[in-house]
Amino acid sequence: MSSHPIAVAGLDEIESPAYLYDLAEIRLSHAELRAALPQPSELYYSLKANPHPAVVAELRAAGCLAEVSSPGELRTALEAGFAPAQVLYTGPGKRDRDVQDAVRSGIALFSVDSPHALDQLDAAAREQCTEVRSLLRINDSSPAQGHGLTMTGVASQFGADAEWVLAQPDRFGPRDAVAPAGFHLYMGSNIAGEDALVAQFTQAAASARRLTDAVGIELSVLDLGGGFGAPFARAGARPSFPGLARRVSELLDETFPAWREGRPTIAFESGRYLTATCGTLLTRVLDVKRSHGRPVVVLDSGINHLGGMSGLRRLPPIVPDLLQVGEVMNGAVAETVSGAIVAGPLCTPTDSWARSATVAAMTPGQLVCVPNVGAYGLSASLVAFLGHPLPTEVAIDRGRIIDVSRLQLRRQRVTDATRS
Ligand SMILES: Cc1ncc(COP(=O)(O)O)c(C=O)c1O
Repeated sequence: MSSHPIAVAGLDEIESPAYLYDLAEIRLSHAELRAALPQPSELYYSLKANPHPAVVAELRAAGCLAEVSSPGELRTALEAGFAPAQVLYTGPGKRDRDVQDAVRSGIALFSVDSPHALDQLDAAAREQCTEVRSLLRINDSSPAQGHGLTMTGVASQFGADAEWVLAQPDRFGPRDAVAPAGFHLYMGSNIAGEDALVAQFTQAAASARRLTDAVGIELSVLDLGGGFGAPFARAGARPSFPGLARRVSELLDETFPAWREGRPTIAFESGRYLTATCGTLLTRVLDVKRSHGRPVVVLDSGINHLGGMSGLRRLPPIVPDLLQVGEVMNGAVAETVSGAIVAGPLCTPTDSWARSATVAAMTPGQLVCVPNVGAYGLSASLVAFLGHPLPTEVAIDRGRIIDVSRLQLRRQRVTDATRS
């Protein structure tokens, strides 16, 4: 079994399952991504990847802005110290009430996905006697290549089709209280290669240029999205993009020659790259046995805590690495078993991370860990399933535990319809 050195004083006291988030690793990820982006540019942290307060506060301190897409994410961002002017509110469908609350909180920049969304935002802003700015999210004409998950160039709820905007620009124009400020072209997630990122940004910038000219908007913000890849639940390092800043700067020089003077301001978004490698899921082996000739390992964490969407077959199985907790063994090769079912504790056959994995021989009570689950770990899991307690979340800095907490799921009554 390969091992994952987690040198943290007091780790023995932490009850498993537990997500550990290493804040020093977040600072490194942020520094690497910043260095890979053209300057000047803004970088939004997408809270959907990991809304843990310590993670969000760390990225605010590092200089990120906040991209939120729910009332909960907005609250978390504001509580972490983001000023309303540093927040971009996105999402393909927003409840009237949530838009009203966001405007009331002082949020002044929204990504909108349709003429209706513009009208909805306008109504909320007029009600508050204020004015806000919008970025029109664009669903481009063709998909960009190399995405783990494509969100553009296909029929989807994300954005307005570029053809629609070109055919009916008036429907996407200013409203009484909404000034269109630019375009938002987040195209997909988990792009590992620099060439694919450059191809995506080239396509996005060309589309933004075409739309700007056709619609006649004064472009003040161009949000080029991101989709910067990182390993998920597998050992390995973040990819690096050594030529990205130069290559994207050059393509912007061609498409938007005044971008270096902030006309338009160039923005990027990232969740996964900034947080993936900071996270480790600690889980304990509950049982080990054989069934119909196959090894079976039962862990105290399953699809309720990690990879739930894979459990639902929404995404391919994640097949996580299970690493030994502790120092790297002196080159010793542990015994392995193959064809193993790696299951969680839930009463459903879908609760398995892997159906035929090669894993180290394990024993009940042993602590193992899954690396690189700082993004789309707990926040993308089926936490309420079967009422198991949620994993502990531990913020670590420089080998010291600085915060240990656990989300509580409590039923909250939303109407006063109880009968006496
Ligand atoms: C609009 C938008 N921005 C940012 C992100 C974050 O993407 P990632 O975590 O891949 O950086 C997403 C992810 O779905 C998104 O939809």
